[in-house]
Amino acid sequence: MNLYKNFSFMQSKVQKRPAGSHLTHVLNHKTHKAIRWCTPSIDLSSSQVRNPYLSDTSISYQSLGYPSEPSGIFKKIYEHAAVAYGADHTLFSVNGTTGSNFIVLRALSKQLPNLRILAQRNVHRSVVVACEDYGINLIFLSPKLDNENQIFIPNTEEQIIEGIKKTKPQVLLLTNPTYEGITLNLKKIVTRIRNEYPKVIIFIEEAWGSHLHFSKKLPISAMEAGADICVQSTHKQGGALQQSGMIHWKNDRINLDLLMDSYRNLSTSSPSFILLASLDAAREMMEKKGTEKIDHILTIAEQLRKKVKNVKGFEIVSTDKLKKTNPSIYQRDESKIIINVTQTGYTGFEVASILEKKYRIIVEKYNANTILILVPFRATLKDVELTINALQEIAKMPKEIKKQTQMDLMMPTKIPRILELSDVAKLLWSQVEKVPLTSAKGRIAAEYITPFPPGIPVTIKGEELTSEIVDYYLKLKDYPNAHISAEDKSLETVLVVK
Ligand SMILES: Cc1ncc(COP(=O)(O)O)c(C=O)c1O
Repeated sequence: MNLYKNFSFMQSKVQKRPAGSHLTHVLNHKTHKAIRWCTPSIDLSSSQVRNPYLSDTSISYQSLGYPSEPSGIFKKIYEHAAVAYGADHTLFSVNGTTGSNFIVLRALSKQLPNLRILAQRNVHRSVVVACEDYGINLIFLSPKLDNENQIFIPNTEEQIIEGIKKTKPQVLLLTNPTYEGITLNLKKIVTRIRNEYPKVIIFIEEAWGSHLHFSKKLPISAMEAGADICVQSTHKQGGALQQSGMIHWKNDRINLDLLMDSYRNLSTSSPSFILLASLDAAREMMEKKGTEKIDHILTIAEQLRKKVKNVKGFEIVSTDKLKKTNPSIYQRDESKIIINVTQTGYTGFEVASILEKKYRIIVEKYNANTILILVPFRATLKDVELTINALQEIAKMPKEIKKQTQMDLMMPTKIPRILELSDVAKLLWSQVEKVPLTSAKGRIAAEYITPFPPGIPVTIKGEELTSEIVDYYLKLKDYPNAHISAEDKSLETVLVVK
């Protein structure tokens, strides 16, 4: 009897939910109420795992099969996804594009000894770190930046072809679309490379393009343009949960065995089946209703653009305007909206912070001069109305902070490489030293310095910290709400080669 009593007592204790741990509390009571102009772009009507806590399971559940082989249900859902996304093969990732970049680059480094990759400078830091770790020689095309809006502009077709001719890479890596949704004329470039350099593998970093394949109103997807391989963050704009992604590739130039070897060995042995299910659900949703869902986000984006135009101080940066000064821009994913805020007297950092703290409106990205709005599948006209009201109030707010003049923060345009990445990778800790940022001019960086968002390193190991770059950091670090990922995130000191 006593035993029974104890047992039922224990049971009731187990079943009683705790009041709410810190993060569960925030997620349950705050986050879900926010207006999101950011990732993840979840469609709330898509298939969902009903109770993630009850359904969570492990690979010990043998009859489901194994995602890393793949076998069982996983083989089936990967095959289905390959057809839906226009690929010969697809794998799911539970570590975003970050994990996929490591998987793909490890496989390529084994397929092509002494691998040289030519890339645009706006690579995510996972690309650079993977190249460092796998001894890949990563060569960059000269970066092109639009300093008025502080965004990266793709290189022209001619610059890319010239770069291939000069550096003779085995792989060309293009980040397409850019964070802001800007795309190259990918089909034309792929076709030209196929004709002139048929052996070059074309790897598209398509983190921001997992939805492209499902609407003619969006730029062409990497698979449709004929690229060899691409990685996507399905959690960004493709309808799946945070952390999820896909790798798609075609048979011709990619060694299947090596890619599967990387996938098996770099994937966690306990992948979240909830995330894998959300990828399968995103595939289903995009396949069945993708065109309609994309029409929805483009309509909301158009409404927002129209209304922002009437708010004093907030200027929409249109694709036509960007194209005028940047002929390499072919198209844009118009579900993203760049708003230049310099005429409000606030910086983009400040506007994003006010929107979040005062109005619980979250924007995707912000910098000194702009904010970036990403329209997710769940966005409504009500969100547009509330956001416009907030912007109108911000426009009228007295400015407490000194006006940062437009163009005050110039992103560096010349980034000289002094040491090869593979050489810096071999440096010992004793060959590196920490110096004050103010005395780092002319020194060689021994760390990555990455402003967030967007997560694109401004400094990569082995590059010179020129006066222009150091001056940029000295200004950036004092901007309210600037977030910098570096050894010393306050950027008082930096790591340099001794
Ligand atoms: C171009 C690019 N690649 C990769 C990533 C990282 O993707 P994930 O967060 O899915 O790991 C990002 C993140 O913003 C990105 O902008």
